[in-house]
Amino acid sequence: MKKKNRYGFSTKAIHAGQQPDPATGAVMTPVYLTSTYVQESIGKHKGYEYSRVSNPTRTALEENIAALENGTYGAAFASGMAAIDAIMYLLRPGDHVIMSHNVYGGTYRAAKLVYENYGLSYTFVDTTNLENAEKAITKTTRMLFIETPTNPTMEITDLEAAVKLAEKKKITTVVDNTFATPYLQRPLDMGIDIVVHSATKYLNGHSDMLGGLIVTNDPKVDESIRFTQKAIGGILSPFDAWLCLRGTKTLAVRMDRHNANAQVVAEFLAGHKAVGKVYYPGLPDHPQHELAKKQMRGFGGMIAFDVGSFRQANKILKKVRVCSLAESLGGVETLISHPATMTHASVPKKEREASGVTDGLVRISVGIEDADDIIADLKNALS
Ligand SMILES: Cc1ncc(COP(=O)(O)O)c(C=O)c1O
Repeated sequence: MKKKNRYGFSTKAIHAGQQPDPATGAVMTPVYLTSTYVQESIGKHKGYEYSRVSNPTRTALEENIAALENGTYGAAFASGMAAIDAIMYLLRPGDHVIMSHNVYGGTYRAAKLVYENYGLSYTFVDTTNLENAEKAITKTTRMLFIETPTNPTMEITDLEAAVKLAEKKKITTVVDNTFATPYLQRPLDMGIDIVVHSATKYLNGHSDMLGGLIVTNDPKVDESIRFTQKAIGGILSPFDAWLCLRGTKTLAVRMDRHNANAQVVAEFLAGHKAVGKVYYPGLPDHPQHELAKKQMRGFGGMIAFDVGSFRQANKILKKVRVCSLAESLGGVETLISHPATMTHASVPKKEREASGVTDGLVRISVGIEDADDIIADLKNALS
């Protein structure tokens, strides 16, 4: 796969990996619903043998996301968790990983309840202060896994500083770029080794598939990731690859609207007397507002806010009408959720609360509806 830096982001989003179909001229990449491919003679084929290994619709998405992240190699998996799982196969028993303490609850769950059973160990630190990460490094530390912004309290880690630290200590860096998307943040350009996405979120953008994507410039990492696709098989289906490709075409315009809507919703929440702390990097009082301005091209569509108690949160979540009470994020529709009992239910209460995920915390994935309608809905629910 070649880098396609010649074109702007939206041009790449629409065209990278997607040439008109050579057989028919179809402008849209066909959904290649096939498990296998005919061979002319033993070993003589057109580059495709079996769809667990590769499929042309999946290849198109893999090339597309590689271009959007300014990377060389892309790989698509059946979910964000399957992609994170593929990254963990880069490690060996005895290896140690440092993770941002506020990673998605499912990432925490996989680390503590799955990978620790197979000889890996994890230390969770607040990576907004990289001294914490430096102190946690041991002789066996092989990976620094950062989520920025974090889910749900929107903490931002300084990626250039993380790269400096990791290079000094010869540690592989991974960034979960799900919340920012490559439109707002490109970690590989800052020297990060591996980018991972839950494509289920903004990249698809329409809440109609699950997927995971990995991008890297490192051929050795790519070799291992491809081997995991083939050996373990948690790959993305052709139809879901096609849905995700349809989503990435409009990523830039959707993100512009998510940014604009979230900014006014965050300002509304920050000024409301029933709302305590509001977590949004676009607010000037966000602790990493300046860093977010430096390393992101916008603040994204995710906001968390504290309403004081579970009872109050439940009351608000029952009253909303435009916002839908549901897990997940990044779709065109506004979704509202309760991290303590939903996305972060598997994180022990003490750890959860220490990282700001209190029983009164509400998370909102601001959609691209009319901002006035979202605000009116929240105003009514908070009244
Ligand atoms: C930041 C982040 N990373 C990874 C995941 C896991 O992705 P998936 O649900 O597609 O497996 C999620 C899911 O919510 C997420 O929010």
